[in-house]
Amino acid sequence: MAAKHNPRKILVTSALPYANGSIHLGHLVEYIQTDIWVRFQKMQGHTVHYVCADDTHGTPIMLRAEKEGITPEALIANVHKEHSADFAEFLVAFDNYYSTNAPENKELSQGIYNKLKAAGKIATKTIEQYYDPVKNMFLPDRFIKGECPKCHAKDQYGDSCEVCGATYNPTELINAYSAVSGAAPIRKETEHYFFKLSECEGFLKEWTRSEAFDGKPTLQGEAANKMGEWFESGLNDWDISRDAPYFGFEIPDAPGKYFYVWLDAPIGYMASFKKLCADSGLDFDEYWNKDSSTELYHFIGKDILYFHALFWPATLEFSGYRKPTKIFSHGFLTVNGEKMSKSRGTFITARSYLEHIKNPEYLRYYYAAKLNSSMEDIDLSLDDFVARVNSDLVGKFINIASRTAGFINKRFDGKLRSAANNKVVAELKLSANTIAEAYETREYGRALREIMRLADSANGYVAEAAPWVMAKQEGQDSALQQACSDALEMFRLLTLYLKPVLPKLASDIEQFLNIAPLSWASVEDSLADNHSINAYEHLIIRIDPKLIEALTEANKENLEATPQVAAPLLEKVVVKALAEPILTEAEYISIDDFTKVDLRIAKIVNAEHVEGAEKLLKLTLDIGEASTRQVFAGIKSAYDPATLVGRLTVMVANLAPRKMKFGMSDGMVLAASDESGGPFILSPDAGAQLGMRVK
Ligand code: MSP
Ligand code: ZN
Repeated sequence: MAAKHNPRKILVTSALPYANGSIHLGHLVEYIQTDIWVRFQKMQGHTVHYVCADDTHGTPIMLRAEKEGITPEALIANVHKEHSADFAEFLVAFDNYYSTNAPENKELSQGIYNKLKAAGKIATKTIEQYYDPVKNMFLPDRFIKGECPKCHAKDQYGDSCEVCGATYNPTELINAYSAVSGAAPIRKETEHYFFKLSECEGFLKEWTRSEAFDGKPTLQGEAANKMGEWFESGLNDWDISRDAPYFGFEIPDAPGKYFYVWLDAPIGYMASFKKLCADSGLDFDEYWNKDSSTELYHFIGKDILYFHALFWPATLEFSGYRKPTKIFSHGFLTVNGEKMSKSRGTFITARSYLEHIKNPEYLRYYYAAKLNSSMEDIDLSLDDFVARVNSDLVGKFINIASRTAGFINKRFDGKLRSAANNKVVAELKLSANTIAEAYETREYGRALREIMRLADSANGYVAEAAPWVMAKQEGQDSALQQACSDALEMFRLLTLYLKPVLPKLASDIEQFLNIAPLSWASVEDSLADNHSINAYEHLIIRIDPKLIEALTEANKENLEATPQVAAPLLEKVVVKALAEPILTEAEYISIDDFTKVDLRIAKIVNAEHVEGAEKLLKLTLDIGEASTRQVFAGIKSAYDPATLVGRLTVMVANLAPRKMKFGMSDGMVLAASDESGGPFILSPDAGAQLGMRVK
């Protein structure tokens, strides 16, 4: 396949984040890496489409929705909003951000399945699986817990122990129980659908060692080697079905059987693009036909290589579509040299970063400085992050403008002179291809090192010209204006080179320089004689190291949630607890006092506004009695009544009924609040049923 298009036509994806959790700094390695590449290609003048979506199907999402007392559809709608906002604020600019639970995806998934079936690639087999006899559902390994067979730690997952690190089969767990209902799981037979991957070995061996149109390998060397190992241990057929109850798409002609989430997830790339085509008049087939001459790239983490380098190309090949041009796999994020950790406060969500550090471009810059085209892990060293951003972005880059722009504004009415004859400017222009090549090959660290080397040259030029000295001397006006204009032309070129990484800052600088949006071709332009710039205002400030401390503090999980918490933190928390006792001894109550309160799991069967009430919602609660209870709750400020209906919560069932202005209130729901927020009503864990006593 040769690239026939110039400008190139490129479709780019990032992996679809699961809809059952928040975006964190680990995810952002991938989305920022991809976004930089896409912005670079767009600056080159190519036609680029960048699509992504939430990965919405599967057991964990179904159970989480149940736990929150909402439908899976409501859950994924909420998460879609949250994820979209996080990405937008980190300047990750998708052309479409969709959902795998979309009609396009259902149609494409079922169509692909039918084609695979027609090609003889689908088989059925009866297998034995763990089953929860109370909840009446098959259990993925992750939902079986028990005592570790090695170190006897309690409540470990079915596949590995988080305390001693042992891996094992769920059968080896001592006193295994279902994490959903608590019941002991049983083994049960069921029929599953399989994609015959074992028959695709010939095709896959060739594809994983193939070259793209540009003569470069389809997979990174490391990835191709990994595939080699997998071929050696033999390819198994791939189990693509799950039994009801399951949140996903039903398999055509197989009632009660659903596509396993990983079948329809990558097809979500196609579905998101299909929606983009419908919205903007693009031709879907041009990009997905078997003989397409467009380019298709998937950015992924190394943990999902198996799905993208084996299952996905085989799925596409045997259902008659094109294959990816290349797969770009990256390593995992560590923070301060270690796995992200809730106890150390380094499991940081995108939202929490934004709340504390605010500027997303600091992180974009730091990740770019650390990224290359390999699958090595990348480390976010928080001290280094502060030092690097402050010295490179503020100390080197912005410094060029902050030391020169003022003179142009004040002394020359904002007017520049041409920098056409400056040697350093010429040197900066000469690097355009080297930097472009580094971006193209995802060697962002190399690109930024080259750009900072150029920034050093520019600063050297400014230091030598010393405009602040000239400004005090007689008869130096023309030299002063020239030197500052030269420096601002250097600043313009550096801005252009940094623009894929720092799009917002670049746009602020375009505004300040009073120029059209920079593209790669703008290397050839220059700021002309008499061009007017706008007043210089502060573009970026240094990171205060104190913000980092606050960030990790805020992300530290409390003692109870993390029993494996590190010793120093334990001390801190204990000391804090002692310093601020909640109660004095005389105020303790006895267990008998406590059991006087009849707490019940209640289902909110209706919730509505109360006319004339500022704070109250009227709730109808079912606790399994002959009739429902009416309760007025002061939670109007925090909840839209529609989102409460169907939820489980906790109520005090034996509180004396109270006559209120709006009617009788027959009980009370519990909610948490303090000056920092709330009220937050309570939710029981999955498995709790309405009417159960809480004690
Ligand atoms: N839903 C699947 C992907 C389906 S693609 C058809 C998934 N979701 S995920 O939310 O777990 O991860 C999304 C992407 O973020 C993956 O490429 C994953 O490798 C990446 N990362 C998640 N945590 C990461 C780090 N700690 N570090 C770097 N990348 C990480 O997998
Ligand atoms: Zn163990």
